[in-house]
Amino acid sequence: MRQASITFDRAFAIGDTDPRLFGAFVEHLGRCVYGGLYEPGHPTADKRGFRKDVLDLVKELGPTIMRYPGGNFVSGYNWEDGVGPVKDRPARLDLAWFSNEPNSFGTNEFIDWCKAAKIEPMLAVNLGTRDGDAARNLVEYCNHPSGTAWSDLRIKHGWKKPHDVKFWCLGNEMDGPWQMEHKTATEYGRVAHEAAKMMRWIDPSIELAACGSSGRNMPTYGRWEDDVLEHTFDQVEFISLHTYFNNYASDTKAFLASPDLMDQFIEEVVAISDAVAARRRSDKRIMLSFDEWNVWYRTRRVRADRVKEGWPVAPPILEEIYSMEDALVFGGACISLLNHADRVKAACLAQLVNVIAPIMTETGGPAWRQTIFWPFAQMSRLGRGSVLKAIVKSESYQASYYDPRGKHDLFYPIDAPYLKASVVSDDKGVSLFLLNRDLEGAINVAVDARGFGKLKVTEATELRHSDLKAVNSKKEPLKVKPATLKGVSTKSDRITLELQPASWNVIRLEG
Ligand code: AHR
Repeated sequence: MRQASITFDRAFAIGDTDPRLFGAFVEHLGRCVYGGLYEPGHPTADKRGFRKDVLDLVKELGPTIMRYPGGNFVSGYNWEDGVGPVKDRPARLDLAWFSNEPNSFGTNEFIDWCKAAKIEPMLAVNLGTRDGDAARNLVEYCNHPSGTAWSDLRIKHGWKKPHDVKFWCLGNEMDGPWQMEHKTATEYGRVAHEAAKMMRWIDPSIELAACGSSGRNMPTYGRWEDDVLEHTFDQVEFISLHTYFNNYASDTKAFLASPDLMDQFIEEVVAISDAVAARRRSDKRIMLSFDEWNVWYRTRRVRADRVKEGWPVAPPILEEIYSMEDALVFGGACISLLNHADRVKAACLAQLVNVIAPIMTETGGPAWRQTIFWPFAQMSRLGRGSVLKAIVKSESYQASYYDPRGKHDLFYPIDAPYLKASVVSDDKGVSLFLLNRDLEGAINVAVDARGFGKLKVTEATELRHSDLKAVNSKKEPLKVKPATLKGVSTKSDRITLELQPASWNVIRLEG
């Protein structure tokens, strides 16, 4: 059996996980809102139309912050269409997803839904077809107490108290030619700078994220971050990153290695941000908001999975069905995020319901958990605390990961350790997140936990399935689910773990 070890010391910390690291994303896209979290008439819906079965699963999943309303959708969104009496709201053609947007759910409904779910809202403003003026008006509508046209309009609409939204995204993926009113870095940097300035003049307590690249494979990657931060450095707290992992090449080993590219991506964006700071002799540190991440490929390149003809309302698009294999890659991404807790201070799993999501629903029917639900829920529950610097000794393997985007097909060589790990400590003990990427063999892991005294294993689960393509479905909603990890040994105070091939494992140790 392969041998590996993990050594960590309570005194050697990377950084604390920010609660916002465990966020997710709701876009007006397909059945994410309509038929997802909002479905008036559904047997479990409350009088506001919020599906209770979905809310219950969201609470179990544990996201802490929710990005809204897009995504590509936001770049053509008039927020004013989504407030006021529902009967007066206009239907509009949404050019991001070629759908008819009825606007029966808007900013106020979203805020109410966040309250019901006990989640912090994160709002994105339209810096595509609109600019700083619409953005500042939205901040005034949401956050100003009263006595102005926009704040009094909110009160007239039935929301007396300000929404007090703290986290704002300055547009979405403005580097992407698919975006409505796509911009160059300089064009975007100027608009973002001016919008940010006015938004903060209205509410100085807000925090702002500038758009970084929509992927590390973008041709403008690197220069984009540099130019955008050159314009916005003094105005923003965050720069965003987006990543979607794929297995187009049907190369599971490379797919499992791909989260290591997320580590590189984060470290590169940190370096670029700090270079901008260095040019200014500034000690300000721009934090990272990884505000879209997930596995997404099956429903990405096939037009029929992205667009339904005839401008339908809430069509079933991007309804990716996640397999066991996807959950492993997803778990690897969780580890990458945790291990950069010093700089990644916000992150959003994209998305929440139906659309590339951990929760699936049938319109009028039940809701269930996809395979990727489990690693996220475990990370959110047990990943709060101080991430420790873990020294992992493990054999590694060579992989070549294929990452297509338009004309820019790329192959990344990766030297991937079979064991990928993260360790998070808190007042009571320590949580280990361990991914065995060996498809054939178990790994025997010796745990050397220093500075904790005697630790006992209080929880040990594994997520694995003999069929890497196994999925959960309405018929078999719990086909893939965590089970007790049997291979735990604590002989003579030494903890060793036997991790099965292709498995995601979460271990809790307490004193
Ligand atoms: O999450 C789906 C889409 O992916 C978002 O709308 C966009 O921002 C990204 O390209």
